Order: sequence, then C-alpha cells, then structure tokens
Amino acid sequence: MQFRHATISDIDALLTLEQGVVEAERPFNSVIKAHGARYYDIPDLIASDNSCLLIADVEGSIVATGYVQIRQSKSALVHDVHGYLGFMYVAPEYRGQGLNKQMMDRLITWAEGHGVNDFYLDVYSANQSAITAYEKAGFQPSLLEMKLHRGNKR
Ligand SMILES: CC(C)(COP(=O)(O)OP(=O)(O)OC[C@H]1O[C@@H](n2cnc3c(N)ncnc32)[C@H](O)[C@@H]1OP(=O)(O)O)[C@@H](O)C(=O)NCCC(=O)NCCS
Repeated sequence: MQFRHATISDIDALLTLEQGVVEAERPFNSVIKAHGARYYDIPDLIASDNSCLLIADVEGSIVATGYVQIRQSKSALVHDVHGYLGFMYVAPEYRGQGLNKQMMDRLITWAEGHGVNDFYLDVYSANQSAITAYEKAGFQPSLLEMKLHRGNKR
C-alpha cells in the first residue's frame, strides 16, 4: 500500500469514491439529494497550496482518501487557522485495520508542517463507526448541529 498526493488524473476514481461517502451518509440525513449530490471541490483540493488530498493506493486502486484544508478560524478563538478534515473514506474490505488513523496522522503531520495545531471535522452523530475511528485518532465530540424544516412536508 502506498500513500500519495492525489493528482488530477485520479479525478474519475475520486468522484466515484465521493459517492461512496454520500451513500454512507444517506441513512443519517434524509435531505441529501437523491441524484447529483456532490460534497467536495476535488480539483481545488488537489491544486490548492492550502489543502492536501491524500490517497492510499493498492496496485493502482484507491482504497482510502482524506483531505485536510487550512481554514481561517472564528475570531473568538485563540487560533487563527485550523485544519479541516474531510473526504474520509476507506473501501469496505479495508475497514477496521487502522487505515483511517494512518490517513489522519499523515494529514495532520502535513498541516503541522504548515503551522497548524488545531483540527476539526464534521460527522453525523449516528455514524458510530466513523466517530469511533475519529476518537481512536484522538478527536473528541464538540459542536452539535441542530436543524428545523418548516416548509411543505417531504
Ligand atoms: C469511517 C471510516 C473512514 C473509518 O475507516 P477505518 O479505516 O475502518 O477506521 P480505523 O480502522 O482507523 O478505525 C477503526 C475503528 O472504527 C470502528 N469501525 C470502523 N469501521 C467499522 C465498521 N464497519 N463497523 C463498526 N465499527 C467500525 C471500529 O471501532 C474500529 O476500531 P477497532 O479497529 O478497534 O475495531 C470508514 O468506516 C468509512 O469509510 N466509512 C464510510 C464513509 C464514512 O462514513 N466516512 C466518514 C464521513 S464523516
């Protein structure tokens, strides 16, 4: 297995894996579009100096993805910037082997090399396998998003 930076030539595989994340999260959010749901600006994540999109590759096949993007933090916080992690995906047959933790460790090391010490991510509160994986990588629960829909019944 080889970890490497994604390149634009990986785009087709990455768009397919993005749908893997969408489908994994669909049970946790009934308002995800049935068709055409997209999460990430993959070309920008690849090209930008402020982000690092890594893949784990086994014999030319991508088995894990993840990015960290350096973002401005809220002015009330003691840190000016933070690393935001996303596109955390491990192919089903590779799950539970610590691959996500290896990916996160690499992303965090990249961001630390850019002066970032604080890290955030979003995860659905019912996505227990993801929460457990993130806790194993050192993350702790923080903000809880609440929502209300007041239109026609869906
Ligand atoms: C979340 C995800 C990236 C974790 O990847 P991973 O490589 O399996 O994670 P790790 O091996 O580093 O961590 C494993 C821990 O997570 C939990 N876990 C991972 N996959 C699990 C599964 N399918 N069922 C139950 N628990 C699971 C286990 O508690 C495991 O701990 P253990 O090794 O002591 O049993 C992976 O499950 C995945 O791709 N899920 C679908 C996409 C997704 O939901 N992404 C997160 C969006 S926020």
